[in-house]
Amino acid sequence: EKGGFEHFMLKEIYEQPKVIADAVRGRMSASEGWIKLGGVSEYINRINQAKRFIITACGTSYHAGLLGEYLIEELARVPVEVEYASEFRYRNPIITENDVVLAISQSGETADTLAAIEIAKERQALIYGICNVIGSSIPRATHAGSYTHAGPEIGVASTKAFSTQVVILTLMALQIAQHKGSISTSYLRQVLYELQNIPEKIKLTLKLDAQIQEIASRFKDATNFLYLGRGVNFPVAMEGALKLKEISYIHAEGYPAAEMKHGPIALIDEQMPVVVLATNESAHDKIVSNIQEVKARKGKVIAVVNEGDVEIKALADYTIEIPATEEILSPLLTVVPLQLLSYHIALMRGTNVDQPRNLAKSVTVE
Ligand code: F6R
Repeated sequence: EKGGFEHFMLKEIYEQPKVIADAVRGRMSASEGWIKLGGVSEYINRINQAKRFIITACGTSYHAGLLGEYLIEELARVPVEVEYASEFRYRNPIITENDVVLAISQSGETADTLAAIEIAKERQALIYGICNVIGSSIPRATHAGSYTHAGPEIGVASTKAFSTQVVILTLMALQIAQHKGSISTSYLRQVLYELQNIPEKIKLTLKLDAQIQEIASRFKDATNFLYLGRGVNFPVAMEGALKLKEISYIHAEGYPAAEMKHGPIALIDEQMPVVVLATNESAHDKIVSNIQEVKARKGKVIAVVNEGDVEIKALADYTIEIPATEEILSPLLTVVPLQLLSYHIALMRGTNVDQPRNLAKSVTVE
């Protein structure tokens, strides 16, 4: 059942090209320039008139939600708030019939996310689910939704479910943007073409596995890791840190790169590995200076860069060169080396990769 892989987690990381292709199949055409998520089409008027989106989720699904905020605000130009379901449900949130509440959950059974949905429903919002497990509780509690079609995810650490959640959020943002006319037809086509190419580019990224394994062997005994990213790569930094904590039991934090100087920079010394997601073209110079700040304090920089980025290569201790893509889609590529890095470090430390201590695949109690 592991298809020749040593662990489900590794199998699921390698399935990402296929499941992303499955997630977009029949839902878009780059050559014809259309996007169609059934749930969005069904409620298009209500979604179009919404004054605000609220995204609610837990854990890795929350990180996908943070990306949803960038995608929906950038493309569809609607205000978005992202909330941990556990906080949202207990603070008497202001929700009206003009809100769309997006609930994201791999299992479709997370207790806090379900409770958040019930509150939002009572307050008349439109509830849209993005779930993986077909027929689970969350899809049954929502008005509309889209399945991620990632297939069963067995490894407790979520990988392919995250990628497909991000794909659905991208399609949703694009479909609303197209309906509203908030992006140009040419830009829309360009993003759709790039989205279509993502599975191929993930395959190329997976070829870096041996190099990532080598990097893992250098840092497997570290006690702390810092992950930094800007813009769309900030949620990826959070996700990379969570993956490492979950399966290797190494303490890690994900931070917006520019926040480093407001505190975490005090942690940096020659022992500290700092993973920097550096693919953003729009912030390249700023990322270069963030890397210089780390190097000035002798931190060890592992940078994920676009192929051919000689400037960062000259500064970083290790560079992982991945294919370039449209910036808003780059999380689908930058997350992959981080998944592999945590996998290899965990394996070298001898932890139970598929069933880490203290964790359950689906958290049905609050
Ligand atoms: C992380 C992980 C958890 C889940 C969280 C939400 O790898 O697996 O953080 O993401 O428990 O679960 P779902 O998405 O099923 O609601």
